[in-house]
Amino acid sequence: MFPLHRPRRIRKNEIIRRMVRETSLSPDDFIYPLFVTYGKNIRREIKSMPGCFQESVDKIVKHAKEVYSLGIPAVILFGIPERKDEIGSSAYDPHGVVQKAIKAIKDKVPGLYVITDVCMCEYTTHGHCGIIGKGDVKNDPTLELLAKEAVSHAKAGADMVAPSDMMDGRVKTIRIALDSEGFSEMPIMSYAAKYASAFYGPFREAAESTPKFGDRRSYQMDPANRREALKEVRLDIEEGADIVMVKPAMTYLDIISDVRNSVNVPVAAYNVSGEYSMVKAAAKLGWIDEKRVMMEVLTSIKRAGADLILTYFAKEAAKLLNK
Ligand code: PBG
Repeated sequence: MFPLHRPRRIRKNEIIRRMVRETSLSPDDFIYPLFVTYGKNIRREIKSMPGCFQESVDKIVKHAKEVYSLGIPAVILFGIPERKDEIGSSAYDPHGVVQKAIKAIKDKVPGLYVITDVCMCEYTTHGHCGIIGKGDVKNDPTLELLAKEAVSHAKAGADMVAPSDMMDGRVKTIRIALDSEGFSEMPIMSYAAKYASAFYGPFREAAESTPKFGDRRSYQMDPANRREALKEVRLDIEEGADIVMVKPAMTYLDIISDVRNSVNVPVAAYNVSGEYSMVKAAAKLGWIDEKRVMMEVLTSIKRAGADLILTYFAKEAAKLLNK
């Protein structure tokens, strides 16, 4: 007898495929990154990230409305300050670009959930994620600044903070600082397993945050390590992280899957700038079908176990899903 099993039976047409589909995407899954800069009436396209912009607060508000109207629940804000210094003081300036953007968005688009990236690299002259001493980033003194930055975002009205610096102990330090300032209900999404990745290249153009010397390998994780991701994730949860993130996503699906299987908090994955730019570039050359590749990438990240996906594709994917 011919094999009893014919897996093709349940692939026959779109109706049955829809019925047995294991993974589905929704705009609810997405968090859209926005880059806020100083000045007025500015909307500068990022060369290596077509469709993404550095925008002044007035333009960000318009953009936030569009994101909200597509059914995307949240944005994450990155700041490009007017002035940088050794200790990144603009990061916790109550009148800084991110603080202003939070207020403006929450005022004009209150239904949109505003998350902020908490890090020093966009605000320091040297481009590292903390304070420098003896040629490296000093861990403990950096924690105080990160806590100040997180509190200033909370005071401006942010809904959630997301520390991306990879200093040891920052989740606990930020948690204590938020609680003592009356923000005990504000959640923390930690970039828990964040790798020292070359896929961040285009983002550093977007956020103007390329390190002026050295690299980030003394604080971000070694791409060769898998078990260590679980250690980082467990530590962050013990310190009070409400959501843990894996970053990048496409080349770290094994890590997303491991994390999903070992924790019971929501897992986020960051489909980073280089992953976006590669798809955009290949599509521009006519080498791939952009929409299909985009949906396949996002579906694979969800299939691996991510509950939330930070992605520059959020708007385009939501448009397709809303059809
Ligand atoms: C800040 C930060 C980075 C990204 C998010 N937050 C860059 C870095 O660590 O160098 C990368 C995002 C992306 O590539 O899309 N520390």
